[in-house]
Amino acid sequence: MTVSDPDRKAAIIDRFRRHVSSGKADFFESVGVDFIFGRREGPFVWDATNGKRLINCHCNGGVFNLGHRHPDVIAALQESLTTSDIGNHHLVSENRALLAEQMARLLPGDLTYTVFAAGGGEAIDLALKLARGATGRQTIISAGGGYHGHTGLALSTGDAQYRDPFGPNPPGFVQVPFNDPKALAEAMDGTTAAVIFETVPATYGTPIPAPGFYPFVRDLCDRHGALMIIDEVQTGLGRTGRLWGIEHYGTVPDILVIGKGLSGGIYPMAATCFGVQLESFFHDKPFIHISTFGGAEVGCPVAMQVLAISSQPQFLEHVNLLASVFRDGFERLQSKHPEILAGLRQLGLMMGIEMVNETCGPVLSKTLYDNGILSVYANNNTAVSQLLPPLIIDADLAREIVERVDAGLAAAKQMMEL
Ligand SMILES: Cc1ncc(COP(=O)(O)O)c(C=O)c1O
Repeated sequence: MTVSDPDRKAAIIDRFRRHVSSGKADFFESVGVDFIFGRREGPFVWDATNGKRLINCHCNGGVFNLGHRHPDVIAALQESLTTSDIGNHHLVSENRALLAEQMARLLPGDLTYTVFAAGGGEAIDLALKLARGATGRQTIISAGGGYHGHTGLALSTGDAQYRDPFGPNPPGFVQVPFNDPKALAEAMDGTTAAVIFETVPATYGTPIPAPGFYPFVRDLCDRHGALMIIDEVQTGLGRTGRLWGIEHYGTVPDILVIGKGLSGGIYPMAATCFGVQLESFFHDKPFIHISTFGGAEVGCPVAMQVLAISSQPQFLEHVNLLASVFRDGFERLQSKHPEILAGLRQLGLMMGIEMVNETCGPVLSKTLYDNGILSVYANNNTAVSQLLPPLIIDADLAREIVERVDAGLAAAKQMMEL
């Protein structure tokens, strides 16, 4: 048991405020969240200074799909560290080749090539560069409220609040409402290089697209000669109950982007995956895109272990079983808390707690924290609170999470006088 040490907590927060981010330190103080990650294991994290335990239902958007410090993932890195390091990003690499081959086996359709990145934004940037380079067109269409990262081109596809302070958006970026076939059809023309969507946009509050949406997007892209880019940074690797979220829609994109969970929570790894036809763009200019840390050799075995675990049929069956526990639990909660709870947005364990107004998300994040759950509200739709438990929890812990959400909703109702 950790002995409570408030002086240590204060010292850590002070050091963070002085040298990392004064704004974040002030923000978390203002909302009464002073948690500092200490010991971590499976679905749990403990405060480093007082031992408070949280169930991690934030999971950094999927980084901890396999929980914290999964023993097989740790073993893969330990083994890799005995012989390997970053490697050389220009030369032919056995580790990168093996990982990319495994991805080719597991990805839908004929997405047989992978370029690696150190983070999701970087991988999205490459997807957008490739779309422009390969089509010779400029226009990129994305969803209002969507999120693809805070790097260069990815930033331009996202919400204005994150880019306005840095000057006008470069030309060629157009946004349409998500899951709106008519608006998309009207926006597309012969200048469209690509359409990019998150399969289920988490930051926009987990709206689940209609079954026909992605087949429609696919058809529209084909008719206009545009590329379909699907961002599976959050929805990939089993989160939705299938290995890739887009599989629910029976559609194969031209470019699929993976991040977060591919790291196993241990070694950063992201990927931009595409077919042989698009790979031909790089054939004469293989050094036109460079990433020093992308596909670092020491991390490749980690990603291979993640893929091996996440693609097992039993693993995906388990995700679907847990999804039904949450579905049933939230049905019950909805009849108990109709004043605040509007419903559960759900595709497998990609879940958003939909509430009645935009104050609810931030309030519920706090009351869930007080009830032992780490979670965040959806920044671009604050009526929704994201609920992303690790995929490795058991059914009892899923039921416990529902009970804690029950208490969190009751406390939120009281605070908001609903
Ligand atoms: C859907 C989606 N795409 C891309 C990114 C960017 O990933 P990264 O933060 O690793 O750059 C994120 C990060 O939250 C994301 O949620």
